[in-house]
Amino acid sequence: MTTAADLTWWQKTIAYEVYPKSFLDTRGQGTGTIAGITSKLDYLASLGVGAIWITPFYKSPMVDNGYDVQDYYQIDPSFGTMEDMDELIARGREKGIRVVMDLVFNHTSEECAWFKESRKSRANAYADWYIWSDAKPDGSEPTNWRSIFGGSAWAWCEERQQYYLHTFAPQQPDLNWENPAVRKALFDVANFWADKGAGGFRIDAITYIKKPAVFADGPADGEDGMYAVHAATANTPGILDFLHEFKAAVRDGRDIFMVGEANGVAADELGDWVGTNGVFDLLFEFSHTHIPMGEAEIWCKPAQWKLTDLKRVLTASQKATATNGWYPAFFENHDQPRSTVNFFRCEGSTAAKAKALGTVLLMQRGTPFLYQGEELGYSNRVWGSIDEFDDLQTRSQYEFALTEGFTPEQALAACNRFSRDNARTPMQWDASAHAGFTTGTPWLPVHADYAEVNVEAESADPDSVLNWYRRLAELRLSRDELLAGSYEELMADSEQIYAYRRAGETSTAVMLANLSDEAATYDAALVEGLELLAGTHGATEVGTLRPLEAVVFATK
Ligand code: NOJ
Repeated sequence: MTTAADLTWWQKTIAYEVYPKSFLDTRGQGTGTIAGITSKLDYLASLGVGAIWITPFYKSPMVDNGYDVQDYYQIDPSFGTMEDMDELIARGREKGIRVVMDLVFNHTSEECAWFKESRKSRANAYADWYIWSDAKPDGSEPTNWRSIFGGSAWAWCEERQQYYLHTFAPQQPDLNWENPAVRKALFDVANFWADKGAGGFRIDAITYIKKPAVFADGPADGEDGMYAVHAATANTPGILDFLHEFKAAVRDGRDIFMVGEANGVAADELGDWVGTNGVFDLLFEFSHTHIPMGEAEIWCKPAQWKLTDLKRVLTASQKATATNGWYPAFFENHDQPRSTVNFFRCEGSTAAKAKALGTVLLMQRGTPFLYQGEELGYSNRVWGSIDEFDDLQTRSQYEFALTEGFTPEQALAACNRFSRDNARTPMQWDASAHAGFTTGTPWLPVHADYAEVNVEAESADPDSVLNWYRRLAELRLSRDELLAGSYEELMADSEQIYAYRRAGETSTAVMLANLSDEAATYDAALVEGLELLAGTHGATEVGTLRPLEAVVFATK
């Protein structure tokens, strides 16, 4: 049986995602800086964090907040300098926190030198670095694929008299991985950052890198007559060959981890992607975020769901990585609404929801990935009009809802519920102006609850969400069964309680969380012989959980 001694550093730590634009501004410019992250390393260490995944900070026109990379070898001046980055990596290492970089390798910015060359003509050194295609005989787009951010996935280029493919925005042209020179250029980028001391990589949108051999129209899936590019290109056979090459060129022989962002990979396919024969150490798959949002990710048509639906997919992912590979447990990231809204269908205080769900997250098997603000108990912001949003996907989801016949009010409600900007409002450090995030004007409004929901106030309150997260982190990192023990779901049919057992070699823990706003009961035998290790509501009556109460029982 596995014990904590068998695990690597990244299997027995807690990871934390930083969205740098919204983390901490040290210059009064309204957007966050790398120096801001460095200044908060002690805060992150207080949460047991050993790895920070930072979303892209490379030079970029920022059409998609850095996911449109202009130059992989430069830091965007809005975030700071290469010296700031070196400093962050070095100070982080001193404190036991490694920096995980985001590699955006499916596409670049249209401002990238490679694309600027490629678009000039059909015959130049970079001509074949992107996905170019002739128009249909009538001059229209090569296929009816809809990009993920809305509208056609093809954009016209006057110079070449051809279309190029963009899975995301038109300013994000897709790279041609079939070209070995492209693959080498990308692997060189990864090796440059690994040599600099990166502790790992998160690989963006990786399921889209392989395109089908033939580009063909798909059946219309919306009133616009288009077909989602995801359905046409995600996870195309042959993709794993590219990724094995990537692993051999970058990962092998280094003490780093690679986590792929793999929308479109199902739990039963995980064995090809992670573990002994896989290509990554960990894989972000989205089966659980699809439960409230629906697999098609059309915000105005959310799914109907029950707690058992959510538990079923989380347990399936646990089973798929039980003996092979490792699971990155997460409920939030910069593309998701806040989990206190997303994964609850009941009333109740945001703080109580945050504590209950935090318990589910931090007691799971795998490496937990927290997202900034989650540890404070953030909720979605109330957005009064579409003009308040910055995110390009939110705007396209709004337009799409209107074309589907929804009213402006309904479209706005869908954006309030699912917008990525809910995750991107500034980090709340204290109760001063703009929550201590900036002395300038924040690029996105600060959430109205910042006077209570902030690091300073919550640090001083023993009952805060933040101190609950700290307590859970301490337990997790100090107990063998919580790090290395198996996962067995209990009470799988309950629509109120999420429960599981973590069994280690010599100790056991049982986590029970009532995710409803009504009292719930469980069989006391489940925790027989164990003692209460931690409870959101303090002392607890065995066999009963109050609304939104979560408890952890364990061997003494
Ligand atoms: C996934 C990233 O998480 C998201 O923020 C981004 O917009 C797309 N990939 C495109 O890079």
